[in-house]
Amino acid sequence: MEKEIIKIENIRRDFTVGSETVHALRGVSFSIRAGEFVTIMGTSGSGKSTMLNILGCLDTPTSGEYYLDGISVRTMGKNDRATLRNRKIGFVFQSYNLLPKTTALENVELPLLYNRGFSARQRKEKAEQALVAVGLAERMSHRSNQMSGGQQQRVAIARALVNDPVILLADEATGNLDTRTSFEILTLFQRLHAEGRTIIFVTHNPELAEFSSRNITLRDGRVVADTLNGNIRSAREVLESLPKEND
Ligand SMILES: Nc1ncnc2c1ncn2[C@@H]1O[C@H](COP(=O)(O)OP(=O)(O)OP(=O)(O)O)[C@@H](O)[C@H]1O
Ligand SMILES: [Mg+2]
Repeated sequence: MEKEIIKIENIRRDFTVGSETVHALRGVSFSIRAGEFVTIMGTSGSGKSTMLNILGCLDTPTSGEYYLDGISVRTMGKNDRATLRNRKIGFVFQSYNLLPKTTALENVELPLLYNRGFSARQRKEKAEQALVAVGLAERMSHRSNQMSGGQQQRVAIARALVNDPVILLADEATGNLDTRTSFEILTLFQRLHAEGRTIIFVTHNPELAEFSSRNITLRDGRVVADTLNGNIRSAREVLESLPKEND
């Protein structure tokens, strides 16, 4: 059995909006082992992004414990937490969050600017490797506003990979994409999983549970199902069965 890389215990997250309190998470507990590919599902408003932001150390819970690689995130200082996040976690945002008039290469180099261990040359090399890994070798000097949605999504994934994180978190990474592009991205995630990464992939699309090794379903801020998938479908096979683009 691989080690537990993530463990959360009774996580709650309340938001105060005016005089109302929104209970986005109402006591969520689970553990994730290294090498799992977990999809997190649930309808809009069920708490998926809130959960992912906490797992990515972008937000802190109102109460409950989060252990990342055995360390209680709550007890860490802000700087240590930022460093931990930068080294261990790659985050793919729902809306890509790329700098618009900036090239793919520059966007991917960005997280490395916070890592003093790398020279400018090493940064460029690592960013190039990450872009090759997501199939964008030919697009490195294109600006994000000159790229399609699927290509921008790949740049966002390359940026999440550039620090070689052990955990990859993705929020609706295929949400805005057409079927073919979605399966290209899913194929990429399955490959990253096969290479040993731990992946947590948030989506509202129930069909995607067939492609992960485990699925957690949230409803109204609670876990209502947590199931292992013994029969993982190949995204590549689906991709190959789709009609080809005529170009
Ligand atoms: N910053 C915030 N301030 C106030 N309420 C918030 C905030 N973020 C989320 N919420 C509320 O918490 C609940 C869960 O939101 P969350 O964004 O986690 O849902 P979601 O499952 O990601 O939905 P979607 O599929 O639409 O992205 C919602 O009721 C939302 O309105
Ligand atoms: Mg969301």
